[in-house]
Amino acid sequence: MPTLDVLLSEPRIQARIDELAARLRADYAGESVLLVAILKGSFVFVADLCRRLGEDIEVDFVQVSSYGDEHRSSGVVKIKKDADTSFEGRNVLLVEDIVDTGRTLSHLRELFGTRRPKSLRVVALLSKPDARAVPVEVEYVGFDIPNEYVVGYGLDSAERYRNLRYVAVLRESATP
Ligand code: IMP
Ligand code: MG
Repeated sequence: MPTLDVLLSEPRIQARIDELAARLRADYAGESVLLVAILKGSFVFVADLCRRLGEDIEVDFVQVSSYGDEHRSSGVVKIKKDADTSFEGRNVLLVEDIVDTGRTLSHLRELFGTRRPKSLRVVALLSKPDARAVPVEVEYVGFDIPNEYVVGYGLDSAERYRNLRYVAVLRESATP
């Protein structure tokens, strides 16, 4: 059986999202913002974040494939579902669950930058700085975490654990 060790408790996550939302409200004061959440992992984060932001908010979703059921990056990023909204002239804020190698974000920043947004920034709940293979700018980071596989609060392992209210390190114990 795998073991789960809590890394970030529900109150810590919620308190940090309060802080991120306060910064975002200040930085985008008087502006409309298009949140573009990267499915599936960020669905919980964007739900909590968007409800703390101002009135002039839209939410859209993209889905990319970068991981299979194995815990490593394929290095190949493919758009499976694109946004429904035009980015032209919009303040686009990409919402990501976790930045690992940086390949997904680096690809999306480049692609979405060509769509003539007014501004393009990234908010990520989690970042693993020691896992970075490609340098990528992330304007807003919730927590820097160690280079270990985590689940919960939207993050999965083979589609499980997304519904946990906390973030935990998943350790596969040796087979008996
Ligand atoms: P990157 O392209 O390597 O930065 O990968 C980013 C994506 O990989 C994230 O959006 C997650 O979906 C997935 N991922 C990376 N690390 C983890 C982890 O520790 N747990 C669950 N998913 C992860
Ligand atoms: Mg993701």
